[in-house]
Amino acid sequence: MHETHHIAVIDFGSQYTQLIVRRARELGFFARLYAIEDFPDIGKPGAIILSGGPKSTADADAPDLDFEKLREFGVPVLGVCYGMQLLNLKFGGTVRPSNHREYGPAELHPAAAEGLYEGITPGSQVWMSHSDTVETLPACATVLAANQQGTPVSLRWEDRFFGIQFHPEVTHSHEGLRILHNFLLTAQKIEPFRIDDLKREVMDDIRARAGDRQVVCGVSGGVDSTVLAVLLHEAGVNMRAIFVDHGLMRKNEGDEVRNNFHRMGVPIETVDCADRFLAALEGVDDPEKKRVIIGNLFIDVFWEAVGDAEMLAQGTLYPDVIESASNARSKASKIKTHHNRVDRILELQAEGKVLEPLSEFFKDEVRALGASLGIAHDILQRHPFPGPGLAVRCPGAVSRDRLDIIRESDAIFIGKLKEHGWYDKVWQAYAALIPVKTVGVKGDERCYEWAVALRAVVSEDAMTADWVELPPTILRETSHRILNDVAGVNRVLYDVSTKPPASIEWE
Ligand code: XMP
Repeated sequence: MHETHHIAVIDFGSQYTQLIVRRARELGFFARLYAIEDFPDIGKPGAIILSGGPKSTADADAPDLDFEKLREFGVPVLGVCYGMQLLNLKFGGTVRPSNHREYGPAELHPAAAEGLYEGITPGSQVWMSHSDTVETLPACATVLAANQQGTPVSLRWEDRFFGIQFHPEVTHSHEGLRILHNFLLTAQKIEPFRIDDLKREVMDDIRARAGDRQVVCGVSGGVDSTVLAVLLHEAGVNMRAIFVDHGLMRKNEGDEVRNNFHRMGVPIETVDCADRFLAALEGVDDPEKKRVIIGNLFIDVFWEAVGDAEMLAQGTLYPDVIESASNARSKASKIKTHHNRVDRILELQAEGKVLEPLSEFFKDEVRALGASLGIAHDILQRHPFPGPGLAVRCPGAVSRDRLDIIRESDAIFIGKLKEHGWYDKVWQAYAALIPVKTVGVKGDERCYEWAVALRAVVSEDAMTADWVELPPTILRETSHRILNDVAGVNRVLYDVSTKPPASIEWE
C-alpha cells in the first residue's frame, strides 16, 4: 500500500529510526520503514533515507545493502550517521573505526547556505551519537558542512547522494527538520501525503480483503478501536463490533460508548460480564495476579462472543508493528508479547484472517483519520484508559463499593477539568482509591473512612510523565465535591510523583 513516490527509510537499527519516519510525515510526505533484510523490495520510492545504527562498518556482521540496486532507484539518497559512513565506503572512501563515542551537541557550519543547508543558521546545534567517522573522501565527494573543529559532518557524493553525521530527526538538532525538508525538496517524485488519500486506500484494501466475509472487531470506546470500527462500517463490510463491559469501566462509560456508536450509526453488541470479572477478582490483592486474571478472562469472554469468526480486525498501530517486527528479528531476550500477537491471533494471521487497517498510522494520524471520518472531537481526544480499567486504580482487592467510590470521585475530577478547560491540556487524569482509612469528623460524628488520590500527568509517550501543576481552584473545588458527595471518603490527596519512579497508574 502506498509504495510509490513515498520515502523509504531503511532501518540499520538506530534507536531514532522511527523518528525519521515521523518527521517526514510531519513535513507532509508519506514515509515507511523497511528492515534492511527487505531491501530492495521497497516499491518505487521517490527518496531513500539510510538510517543510523549501533554497528561499525568495520564489524564482521555490519549491515550492508546492494549498492548497485540502490543506484538503480535513480532517486535522492540521504545517509544518516551509519548510513553516511556506509555511503562513503561504497563510493570508495574510508571510515575510521573508533571505540570512543561522540554523544551530544555539536555546531554545524555549512560550506554554503544552499541546497541541504539553505536557511540554516551557521553554528546551529546538531546532535551527535556515533563512534566511527569518515576518513578519506573519494574524488566524487564534496564537503557540505563541518563541525566547530573543521571535521566534515556532511557530504555529497556525485549529485544525488547526501550524508549527514548528526541526527536531524531529534529535537536536539535545532534545525534538523529544515535540513530533512531541504533534502526532500531535492526529490522530484515524492508527493504530498493527504490523510484522505490514505483513507481511501485503506478502505479499498479492507473491501478487497474482506469480500463477503464477516469481520469482527472489539471496541473499548478508546480512540483506536473506535476509528477501526467506523472505518470498517464506512467501508461497507459485513461487520460485528463487540464491546466487553468488564465492570471496571468509569462512571456511565458503558452507556457513553453505546451512545457514541449509536450517534455514529455503527451497531455494537455489549457483552455484560461485570459479575464474572468481580467474582474472579474477589480477594485478589496482588497487582500482577489481578492483571493476569483480567487479561485472560477478557480473552475468554471476547472469543466466546466472537464464535467462529471469519475474520478479525484489530487496531494495531504502526509503532506496534515496528516494535513486533524488531522484537522478532532481534536476538535479544523477549521483553513482552504484544497483546495483538498472542498465539490465537498468529494462527488467524497465518490463515490471512486478520485485518489491521491502522497498521500504517501513528497515533496522531489515527486521530486525523477519525476526524476525516466525522468522529467527534471529544471521542478522539479521550485520555488513554488502561485495559484492566479501574482495577489498577484500586490498590489491593477490588470490590463493588470501592469501584463505586472511584467512579464517583473520578467523574467529579474529570468534570472539573473539563469545566475549567484543562482536560485537553493533560495526557491523563483520574482518581484512585487509597485503601487506607483515616480519622475525620463529619457533622458532629467521628468518621473513619478511605482516602482518594487525584492524579493528572503530562507525557509525550507514556514512557515518562510529569505531574501537572493544576490551578488550586480546580483541586479545591474537586476536593470539596468529593468530600461532600462521595460516601465513604474523608480525605483527598494530590499525587505529585513523576514517572519514573512512579508509574502513571497506581498498579
Ligand atoms: P504506567 O502505569 O505503566 O502506564 O505508567 C503507562 C500508560 O499505559 C496505560 N496502561 C495500560 N494500558 N493496558 C493498557 O491498555 C494495561 O494493562 C495498561 N497499564 C497501563 C496507562 O493508562 C498509561 O497511559
